[in-house]
Amino acid sequence: MKVAVLGFGVVGVGIWEMLGQAENLEQGPVLVRPGKKDAPWKVETLDEILADPSIDAVAEAMGGVEPAFSYGMRVLRAGKHFITANKALVAARGIELSALARERGLAFLFGAACGGALPYLQQLCLAHRGDRVLRVSGILNSTTNYILDAMQRRNMEYCDALKDAQALGYAECDPTADVSGLDALRKIMLACAVAFDRLPADGLCCEGIDRLTAADVTDFKRRGLTCRLLVSGEPVGDTVSAYAEPVLLPPDREECAVLDNFNLARFDAERMGRMALLGQGAGRYPTAGGVIRDLQWAVLGGRQMLSPACVKVTADNSRVRHRYYLRLPRALADRFTPEEYVLCGDTARIVTEPVSVAEMHAAVREMREAGADVFFAAMA
Ligand code: HSE
Repeated sequence: MKVAVLGFGVVGVGIWEMLGQAENLEQGPVLVRPGKKDAPWKVETLDEILADPSIDAVAEAMGGVEPAFSYGMRVLRAGKHFITANKALVAARGIELSALARERGLAFLFGAACGGALPYLQQLCLAHRGDRVLRVSGILNSTTNYILDAMQRRNMEYCDALKDAQALGYAECDPTADVSGLDALRKIMLACAVAFDRLPADGLCCEGIDRLTAADVTDFKRRGLTCRLLVSGEPVGDTVSAYAEPVLLPPDREECAVLDNFNLARFDAERMGRMALLGQGAGRYPTAGGVIRDLQWAVLGGRQMLSPACVKVTADNSRVRHRYYLRLPRALADRFTPEEYVLCGDTARIVTEPVSVAEMHAAVREMREAGADVFFAAMA
């Protein structure tokens, strides 16, 4: 199978290199930005790829929804398989790409978009067809896991740890999506789409670690807790709950042992029980390896991760409840019914009674709109 590559950044370069060594696969041309063609195997327009009948598949590693979506539709209309590592694209337009691929009998696979090297979506797809998946969950963002682990174990400052994660190629070009929780949220949206045939498109709750301070981490350690950014999705009536938020975990929880850029991608199935995959969720070769795996799956006949039944839904996060840890201005602590209350000057650190995910995220949004500096995390 001859494969063209769209984009020649961190992941695109990795795909190109791995294509040169993989069985069954052959390097095709690489689409680069105008003015960046410095080798005969690079091209500056998609048309050159579409017009080449020797190219069987296109691997996309450009990122962003456009022009990746238009390119993907054109690739499929030209009769070529379309494999992508782009979660923003699949979360926004995956259902349309999947429908066109199905109509044409082509592969539209996006395993590398959720968990990098981990064959998570592939396993979910197979589990969904043989069992009933009850819940998808875990650690699906490497940048934030790297930062949290560096702050906790190596006492690093947030900014220094983020710079390292960028230098190591884990973070997105603009790391806002990583640290705000959006990257992890998009991945759990994809997992819900594959596992439950429901792609939650709004009503989602998303909290990252961008408000975390070294003093917060010191307080977690004092309590014997470890912070991780976790995602969760499960069926709720005709829809799903789907959210990303920091969670404080006791030492016996498996998430505490997930270090550096590693991800822990988990699902619970009715008959098979709990399953978890642990591995590198970001970086050049882990992500490129995920794309190569999807290409190999296409060689073996793999075509779709989304079923024709998959529809967009509004998430319902009002039924899942947690106790929450908050660091907030003392004057706002009365808003909750704390089980625990510690004061340090004008700052309060509290642990609430169980509150729904939707209610807590809305309450904190309201406090921030009024100018308050608040960090919160669920208590595992
Ligand atoms: N920025 C992402 C992460 C890359 O840190 O997990 C992989 O999707």
